[in-house]
Order: sequence, then structure tokens, then C-alpha cells
Amino acid sequence: THQWRGIIEEYRDRLPVSDTTPVVTLREGGTPLVPAQVLSERTGCEVHLKVEGANPTGSFKDRGMTMAITRAKEEGAKAVICASTGNTSASAAAYAVRAGMVSAVLVPQGKIALGKMGQALVHGAKILQVDGNFDDCLTLARELSDNYPVALVNSVNPVRIEGQKTAAFEIVDMLGDAPDVHVLPVGNAGNITAYWKGYKEYAADGVSSRTPRMWGFQASGSAPIVRGEVVKDPSTIATAIRIGNPASWQHALNARDESGGLIDEVTDREILRAYRLLAAQEGVFVEPASAASVAGLLKAAEQGKVDPGQRIVCTVTGNGLKDPDWAVAGAPQPVTVPVDAATAAERLGLV
Ligand code: F0G
Repeated sequence: THQWRGIIEEYRDRLPVSDTTPVVTLREGGTPLVPAQVLSERTGCEVHLKVEGANPTGSFKDRGMTMAITRAKEEGAKAVICASTGNTSASAAAYAVRAGMVSAVLVPQGKIALGKMGQALVHGAKILQVDGNFDDCLTLARELSDNYPVALVNSVNPVRIEGQKTAAFEIVDMLGDAPDVHVLPVGNAGNITAYWKGYKEYAADGVSSRTPRMWGFQASGSAPIVRGEVVKDPSTIATAIRIGNPASWQHALNARDESGGLIDEVTDREILRAYRLLAAQEGVFVEPASAASVAGLLKAAEQGKVDPGQRIVCTVTGNGLKDPDWAVAGAPQPVTVPVDAATAAERLGLV
């Protein structure tokens, strides 16, 4: 009768905490690794989904945030700040509540999903909508944390990466070894950096026999790493990864090159196709940005880059409930019926 204790207690010996560190947790991590039947059939591989939308605030950010807020608390911070496309701010706001801290969040005006805004609001964050994009928000957050008494909890804070690397540990612990390929959406590039660090640590210590190839996918309108230059006005329906100048750019290139992987792009159309496939055929509801990993895998398969028989893990980073607009858009309006079984049966096509 033990429940999962959260990533810090589960992986304490691999994280920068001491016996006296005051752990701030919502028991994040321990997320499902779900076999993906349709994707496996399509690719001829054994595909698994690491469902990070099952975290307490609905995204993988909680793994990094438990570490960032725990360490900020240990260092005596009273307030934390982050720039965000929505998920980091939702997570920071929740963990700040647990720690008794004030949270301040900077989001790009009009470009974050409603569910994420609702989370920051209900957790009592101080929210500023910035007249600019995520990259502008991050510049501002760095300046504020440099000059005022507020701790930065974006993934440029290295303890965020430490927390997020635990997802790789969980996958190896579950599968018995590292997969052949690991596929991720890429925005600010913190998560691909974190997974690569986690996989390398387990391989170095002999917990796994190898490391996977790391495949990252950006949205075409926001693909600076693919283009090799900053994108001044990034665009994509996947607002979570609408980022033109990723903070961990070089680390993402290192993950790609050291692992023999790739970083490519997927169009909004490809993202939405994968988003619908995941929901309609795998039963997994993710937000659009999360579907970029699966869209990338399908694109690579169509290009003949996926050898059959491999074991592949796709991280799906955030819960579909955060941004339901895309689920509703274009779907037929449900019909209204009277309280009458015969009519209902007829409308349901049961007769
Ligand atoms: N998927 C989701 C759902 C995200 O929220 C993010 C990033 C990513 C993928 C990309 O991860 O930045 O580590 O490469 N969201 C950040 C935020 C930027 O502010 O919530 P990354």
C-alpha cells in the first residue's frame, strides 16, 4: 500500500538534494508508459507513449518544478518568477502554493491556452501578459531575477533539468533498458536536454546497456534549430512550443549529435493529424504541442527512416484538457434528443 512518493524521494540519490532539503512535492512523476498499438502497427515497431499529462498539473513541467521550488525554498526565496507559454506557469503557480511562496508569471499576450491561464489564476499567481512572444518574456524574467528579490524557475535554472531527467530513469526502469529511439517535441529545448542527461547517467552507471537516439521535433513555423537561425516571429497552433530562440539550443544540438539522432520539423497539419490519431485511435488525449513527437515519428516512418522492430518511446508532454479548443473545432455539434429511449437509440445508430 505504498503510493509513488514523487521524483525527489524516488530518485533522491541521483538528484542535488541533501537530508535537510525541504522537499516541495505534489507526488509528480511515476507517469504511465502506455503501449501504442496503432502507432506500433504503422511503424512496424514497438512504440510506447510516456504520458506526461498525467502529472499533477497536467504536464512534464512538474518534474522540474518540484526541484526548482524545493531548492528555491531551501535558499530562502520568498518569490519565484518564470516566463511561459503556459505549462511552466501553471506548474510554478501550483508548487509555489505548496511552498508558501509568491509566484509571478510572464506570458505572451493572447498566445496561451485557456486551461493553463485558468491554472495560474486559480493558484493565485501574479500574471503579466507581455506584449511580445515567449522569447521576450524570458528576457524580461531573466532581467527581473537578476535585479530584484525573485528566483528564476525556467529551465535555464539547471535544477529544472535535473528534475526532468527522471522521466528517462522511469522509462529504463520500466522497460529494463533504454529504447532504440526516444522522440520528443522541442520548444525551449530543456526537456530533450534533460532526457539525454538522464539516459547518459543511467548508461554510465551500468543501469542501462546503451543510450537511445534522440529525435526532436519543432513546429515548422517555430523551428529555429532546424533552420539554424533565430525565428523572429514564431507561429504555430501548438502554442506551448511557439518559441523562436530556445534557451537550451546548444544542449539540444549536443543531444542530437552525441546520440546519433535528429532534429526536424512538423507542420501544424501534421501535428493536428497526430493529435486526432492519438485521441481517436490510442485513447490518449494530449495537447497539440505534445502531438509533435508522434507527428515526427509518423513523418520519419513515411520517409523510410524508421527500421522495423525497434523499441521507440514518444513523450507526450501535456494533457489535452489544457487546450480543448482543437478537440471541439471542426467536430460536429452533438444532437439534442428528448428523454426517450427509442429516439436516442435511433440517433445512436443502435437500430
Ligand atoms: N510540450 C509542452 C506541452 C510544453 O509546454 C513545452 C514547453 C514543450 C513541449 C517543449 O519543451 O521547452 O523543454 O523543449 N513549454 C514551456 C512552457 C516553454 O513555458 O510551458 P521544451
